[in-house]
Amino acid sequence: MEKLTGLKKIKTAVFISGIGSNLKNIIKFSKIKQSPISINLIVSNTHLAKGLKYADQFKIKKKIFNFKNHKETEKNISILLKKEKIKFICLAGYMKILSKKLIKRFDGKIINIHPSLLPKYKGLNTHSRAIKNKDKLTGCTVHYVTAKLDSGKIILQKKIKISARDNPTSLAKKVLKQEHKLYPAAIMKIFN
Ligand code: GAR
Repeated sequence: MEKLTGLKKIKTAVFISGIGSNLKNIIKFSKIKQSPISINLIVSNTHLAKGLKYADQFKIKKKIFNFKNHKETEKNISILLKKEKIKFICLAGYMKILSKKLIKRFDGKIINIHPSLLPKYKGLNTHSRAIKNKDKLTGCTVHYVTAKLDSGKIILQKKIKISARDNPTSLAKKVLKQEHKLYPAAIMKIFN
């Protein structure tokens, strides 16, 4: 990944589908002087994503795409990214799979946060799977996005203990707290 030159921050889009706590955290991080990125666009696949409120709160352009025609929608996303001169993409609880074409166009420039210690528990319901398997440790991972789900090169990972009292909800809360530290740290690691 190229080093930062001068004061120009890298134009970044964040893709979300839900609450958007990672989005809010990344926006706040992007505003500090040391941040290599600025958040210029928020993309969602649903109007129901609560995190869309941060677009209004922080005055960031947002766009919601309904995926009636997947191919067409991906094309429209691609056009928008070009128009907004987006150079980097952070997936933050985005629950759609990106097309191979888009991933190729942004090769090495799309990252994702996943609530498990990858390669363990790719996909959904990571916390209930970890508890069901009586794991003692879980965590979160920031990784590059490739065509294979949750399988790209790992940038940073944080381990978190699972206690006997944990249930999927309490564990999700614990992991999310660490995600908020890990995502900015991973972005710093990429660009510095
Ligand atoms: C986060 O825990 C993130 O790791 C997970 O969704 C949550 C989004 O929370 N992502 C995935 O499961 C992707 N496969 P947020 O909307 O509050 O950032």
